[in-house]
Amino acid sequence: MHVMVVGGAGYIGSHTVRQLLEAGHQVTVLDNLSSGHREALASQAKLVVADLLDYAALKSALHIAQPDAVIHFAALIEVGESMRDPGRYYLNNVAGSVNLFQAVVETRKVPVVFSSTAAVYGDAANTPIPEDAPKQPSSAYGHSKLMVEQILRDFGTAHGLPYTVLRYFNVCGAHPDHTIGEDHPNKTHLIELALLTALGQREKMFINGTDYPTPDGTCVRDYVHVVDLADAHLLAVQALIGGAESGKAYNVGLGYGFSVRQVLDATDAVVGTPLHREEGPRRPGDPASLVADSSRIKAELGFLPQFTDLRAIVQTAWDWHRTHPHGFEGQ
Ligand code: UFG
Repeated sequence: MHVMVVGGAGYIGSHTVRQLLEAGHQVTVLDNLSSGHREALASQAKLVVADLLDYAALKSALHIAQPDAVIHFAALIEVGESMRDPGRYYLNNVAGSVNLFQAVVETRKVPVVFSSTAAVYGDAANTPIPEDAPKQPSSAYGHSKLMVEQILRDFGTAHGLPYTVLRYFNVCGAHPDHTIGEDHPNKTHLIELALLTALGQREKMFINGTDYPTPDGTCVRDYVHVVDLADAHLLAVQALIGGAESGKAYNVGLGYGFSVRQVLDATDAVVGTPLHREEGPRRPGDPASLVADSSRIKAELGFLPQFTDLRAIVQTAWDWHRTHPHGFEGQ
């Protein structure tokens, strides 16, 4: 199968490209390289540098590649930034996706797998969160992803475009061979920040809020390994190509969560030294607890995460960061 991976030079995209190639598939990556890295891609993957807002380039890339499926990762992903600059988020994430889906229906109406997020649920009343829980995003980022889910529904109805939505919880870790890993222009994720602190690039770790209604007062999240998440994309694409029902949304998580303190305990254990921690106020927009009910993807797509132990997950991230202290820079 030939898959076009849009945003394939990014963190999750590049791990998915790797899994696709290892499974013997052909891959074309379309990426504007605004936050992705050319170095994250194996030479077998063809790279087309283009922006989703450039409709002509998009259509031409699809026309030339003639893929059997499209996986769409390309998006701006920072919750805080989306609140400061919502226009950029709606333009990139929403308008860019409309362009992509329109170009797909106008060239070859192939299945689309879309990257959505747990942020569509907002501050959920009950956890674990099933897919049919109320959608109340608390950020422009979450709204932008939820809008794209609606747009896909409309494209499904109007044009018969087959699609699946994957809603990720907290993605972390790196490929176990530590050749690719997390390297965002702005560092905001808990595990990455802790490991960069261990490398001496930051002075200390701040715990954002200790008065949440959780067992130890810090936020609880469901940490899913990026390689397992990449596998979920392969399962979703294969199911759609095999004729599975279109229009389904799946949570991708382990189904259990860890608190900020538990994550920092795990990073301390992996790096072998306790990081200096400082307790601070809550970070605006952070829900207390986000844990996936991931039973649907396990039952329907056969999702079976391999990385279920927090320390093992953190170890893969540590192996990446300690061998690439400045990410892909200089490679
Ligand atoms: N945290 C700290 N200190 C830090 C960094 C983070 O205490 O230095 C806390 C956060 O406040 C939060 C938890 O650690 O409680 C996890 O934070 P991350 O930034 O690692 O991840 P988020 O849960 O905020 O974000 C993730 C995805 C987003 C997605 C969101 C859905 O990265 O893309 O879940 O809510 F939108």
